[in-house]
Amino acid sequence: DSIAEAEKFRPSFHFTPEENWMNDPNGMFYLDGTYHLYFQYYPEDNVWGPMHWGHATSQDMITWKEEKIALKPDEKGYIFSGSAVVDKENTSGFGEEGKTPVVAMYTYHDPKGEKEGRKDYQTQAIAYSTDKGFNWTKFKDNPVIKNEGIKDFRDPKVTRDTINDQWLMVLATVDRTFFYSSQDLKEWKKISEFGQSTGAHNGVWECPDFFPMKVEETGETKWVLIQSLNPGGYNGGSGTQYFVGDFDGTTFTPEKNMQNLEEKHSFWLDFGRDNYAGVTWSNIPTEDGRTLFIGWMSNWLYAQEVPTQKWRSTMTLARELKLQKLDGVYRILSEPVKELDAYRTEVHKMSKNEPAKTYTYSAKTGDLMNKEISFSLNLKDLEKVDFHLSNSVQDTLKFGLNKTDKQFYVNRKKSGLTDFSEKFIQKVSTAPRISNSDTLKVHFILDKTSIEIFYDNGTTVVSEIFFPNEPYTSFGIRSKSDLHIKDLKVNEITK
Ligand code: FRU
Repeated sequence: DSIAEAEKFRPSFHFTPEENWMNDPNGMFYLDGTYHLYFQYYPEDNVWGPMHWGHATSQDMITWKEEKIALKPDEKGYIFSGSAVVDKENTSGFGEEGKTPVVAMYTYHDPKGEKEGRKDYQTQAIAYSTDKGFNWTKFKDNPVIKNEGIKDFRDPKVTRDTINDQWLMVLATVDRTFFYSSQDLKEWKKISEFGQSTGAHNGVWECPDFFPMKVEETGETKWVLIQSLNPGGYNGGSGTQYFVGDFDGTTFTPEKNMQNLEEKHSFWLDFGRDNYAGVTWSNIPTEDGRTLFIGWMSNWLYAQEVPTQKWRSTMTLARELKLQKLDGVYRILSEPVKELDAYRTEVHKMSKNEPAKTYTYSAKTGDLMNKEISFSLNLKDLEKVDFHLSNSVQDTLKFGLNKTDKQFYVNRKKSGLTDFSEKFIQKVSTAPRISNSDTLKVHFILDKTSIEIFYDNGTTVVSEIFFPNEPYTSFGIRSKSDLHIKDLKVNEITK
C-alpha cells in the first residue's frame, strides 16, 4: 500500500525529517540532558531550496523528536549552515534574568545578490534563544561579519576556547579556513587563515569545525580542524578531511606530516561516499568529556535523486571521536556513541568457526535491516577477503579488503535501485587500511538503506547508502583460503 511504499526506505534508528529535504547538521549543542540537532531544511519540497534550520531533540542521540522549525529565511537571505553555543557567562548580553542564552551563528545566503552576480552575498549572522533552543530571535544588527567579496564564505562554527579564554570561530572560504575570535559573540576579529597549501582541494571547502582533543594514551592536548569539501572527497563528490596540530590562540599549525598533504591523503573522518558536513556537539559537560559528531549521510553527487519521495536524506549515527597516535601519527578514530547499547539485543554468537573458505549468516526470521555485526578475522594466510549482503532477488552489497594493497572497498553497483543517478554507481569506493594488525576487526551497522563500517576499532570508517529492492537477509564472507573467524556477534537494534 502507499504508506508502506512511502516509508519503505525510512531507517529506524537514524534521524530523518518526517517530510521533505534535509542536508547538513547544524547548531548542535547539549543542555540539561537534551541533545539538540538543527539541520539544513527545505520544508516545501524534497529537493534543496530556500534554507531553514529544522530542529530535533534527543536524550541519547539515537531516538529523535522533530521539533518546530527554528530559523526561517527572511529579507536578508536563506539560513545556511552554522553552529550554536551555550553562553553561560552571558558574554553576549542576550541572557535575561536566570535564563542562559544559547547563541547560534549561521550564514545568510542572499539569493538576490547571487542573481545580480555580486560576490558578497554570503555573510555571517547570529540569533539567540532564552528558552534553551526552541524559540529564536535574530540579532537586530545582523550581519555581524560582512563579506569583502569572497563568493564562498560560510558555515561559521563557534567553540569556547577555555585555554585562551575567548570565543573562537572558523568558517570556510573556497580553499582555506578563516579563524576569528570574539569576546561577546557579536564583534569578530579575523586572526588567521589555514589550508591553501595542504589537503584536498578539488572542490570548495565548507563546514569546518575546530576544537581541542586529548590524546587518549598520553593526555596531551592537540587541536583538530575538520574540513569538508565538495566535490573532491576521497571517493569523489562530498567528503570530510581533518588536520591535527597546535594552536597558540591565534594560529593553527598542523603536524609536520600534515603540512603538505596531497589530494589522496589518508586523513578523512570517513572514507565512504555518504558522510558529509559533519561537525561536533558543543557544551558537552567536562565530566563527560566526549567529542560527539554527526554527519549528513549523503553526497551532493546524487542526494537530490535518491529514491525516497516523502523525505530526503538521513543523518549518520552519532559518533564519538577519539584522538590516538598510531605508529607515530595522530589519527581520529570513530565509533557509534555508547548510548546505542540500550538498543542492542544479541541474536547470534559464534566464538570460533570450523576453518572453511566461506561463512554465511542468514537471518532466521526477519531480515538484516536493523542489525549490527562484528567479528575479527585472522589475516595471516589471506590475500583478499570479500563480504557480501544479499537478498532473494539477487541484490548484493559487496565490501572487503585487498590485503596486498591494503585497500578496503565497497561495491554497491548491484545493491538494489541504482538507476536514479549514474553517479551513484560510477565507481567502487576504496579506503586505505591504516592498522597494521594481523587481525582485522570488522564492525558494521545496517539500518535499511545504510551501512556504517568501523574497521579496526574505528581507524578506517566507511559509510555508504543503498536502496535494495527487498531487505537483505544474508551476510557472507569469502576467501581463497581458509577463514579463521573469531567472536562473531549479531545484534538486533530496536527502538
Ligand atoms: C554543505 C553546504 C554548506 C551550506 C549548505 C547550504 O553541504 O553547501 O556549505 O551552508 O550546504 O544548504
